[in-house]
Amino acid sequence: MIEYVIHGAYFLAALLFIYGLKRMASPVTARSGILIAGVGMVLAVLAAFLYGFDVREAAQEHLTMNVALVLIALGLGLGWAWYSGKKVAMTDMPQMVALYNGMGGGAAAAIAATELFSGNAQSHGVVVAVLAVLGGLIGAVALSGSLIAWAKLDGRMNGVFRLPAQQIINLVLFLGSLALGAYIVVTGINGEISFPLIGLFFILALLLGVLLTTPIGGADMPVVISLYNAFTGLAVAFEGFVLQNPAMIIAGTVVGSAGTLLTLMMAKAMNRPVSNVIFSQFGGSDDDGGEIEGSMKSADASDAAIAMYYASKVIIVPGYGLAVAQAQHKLYEFVKLLQKQGVDVAFAIHPVAGRMPGHMNVLLAEAGVPYDIIHDLEDINEDFPQADVAIVLGANDVVNPAARHRKSSPIYGMPILNVDMARQAYVVKRGQGKGYSGVENELFFAENTSMVYGDAQKVMVQMIEAVKSLG
Ligand code: TAP
Repeated sequence: MIEYVIHGAYFLAALLFIYGLKRMASPVTARSGILIAGVGMVLAVLAAFLYGFDVREAAQEHLTMNVALVLIALGLGLGWAWYSGKKVAMTDMPQMVALYNGMGGGAAAAIAATELFSGNAQSHGVVVAVLAVLGGLIGAVALSGSLIAWAKLDGRMNGVFRLPAQQIINLVLFLGSLALGAYIVVTGINGEISFPLIGLFFILALLLGVLLTTPIGGADMPVVISLYNAFTGLAVAFEGFVLQNPAMIIAGTVVGSAGTLLTLMMAKAMNRPVSNVIFSQFGGSDDDGGEIEGSMKSADASDAAIAMYYASKVIIVPGYGLAVAQAQHKLYEFVKLLQKQGVDVAFAIHPVAGRMPGHMNVLLAEAGVPYDIIHDLEDINEDFPQADVAIVLGANDVVNPAARHRKSSPIYGMPILNVDMARQAYVVKRGQGKGYSGVENELFFAENTSMVYGDAQKVMVQMIEAVKSLG
């Protein structure tokens, strides 16, 4: 009887995951989508908990001990996730996503390890054993790779670290883990379980994740994170097959396919072929932009505000600094004043502006900016030459013209917003800080660009005051 309840709960959980994901497709329904998927996860955890009482004979032997261990793990996980989820700043969200993603991969690798060390996977035949090994490999790579990505995003690891002949080393490690995995499967189904070899297999996989990620830098972290997200989904789905757990199979497949789509979209946004992600060191150039001709000019916030007040068309480019300053509400207040004056105001969103996919859209939605004045790069890029003023608020890499022509630049080839083509450009930032990729920005030195120095929120307050004083 309990088995039916468990399977029913898994099925319902899987439906809730899919429905929740569907609702996450639009900012209007995303919040409820997350809640619905969360309810699905609670159901799946409860069902997995019941599973221990019913189905697995092995688990019956030390039932009290196992239940106690599971409760301790659940308590620790819940407590930590609750605390870190409450405390995390919006700007630190990508690090948190990288960390949680890594844990998903780690959990899949841990299942693989349990099933392989115990000989359980091997005893179920070649298909299950192969899936356990593949899930273990992919999950371990996702775990160590995501941890390196977390360290990079959190500023704990700066720059790129590259070994001589790194690509060959990575390839050897990859092929070595595959060969070892094959050996574990073949010997395992003949009843031979080698603890040191299985251990070595996981060590190689973890090392591969580290070495794949350390050389990647510049502006390419978004692609890497979504790739590891896809890896985690795949690993969970494989281990779901091993455990015959439908909720894991469906959730893993959903995460894997959503992650793959996101990776493709991110790679397209960065103009990089996805094939380069794994065995190439793209984005790993150390070129910091070198010496740039021209000089930076500064302007007062009030001068920039007045120029926009008397303009016909203004394009606003938000970036990571806007999120740091939490200036979105003041910005929209300013935009409403311009619109009241009859200025045509549009927002231009670069696909990797900020630190996570959709970061700027979420920020602007929070301030109540209507969706119809928010445009994606491909829809608005042609309009910059007609703009009287383009204003950049805390963005940097996504408006750097070096991406068009400087071949040695780590952002070379990435499409950028054509702010330099507007009649007049203003850039709001606090000082001489570089962008995420660490390169100097040619836009700041351009003839038609003026820098407005200051925290974006403070600058917006000054701009609002300047415009209000006009009338
Ligand atoms: P960035 O290139 O990171 O530049 C942000 C700028 O904001 C900095 O130059 C900084 O200069 C300024 N700033 C910081 N705090 C500020 C504040 N309080 N007020 C005003 N300005 C402030 O920004 P972006 O163009 O939005 O970022 C895109 C980069 O992030 C790309 O390289 C992208 O690949 C990478 N990335 C994106 C994602 C995703 S998925 N979106 C994930 C990871 C990495 P000052 O210090 O001088 O103020």
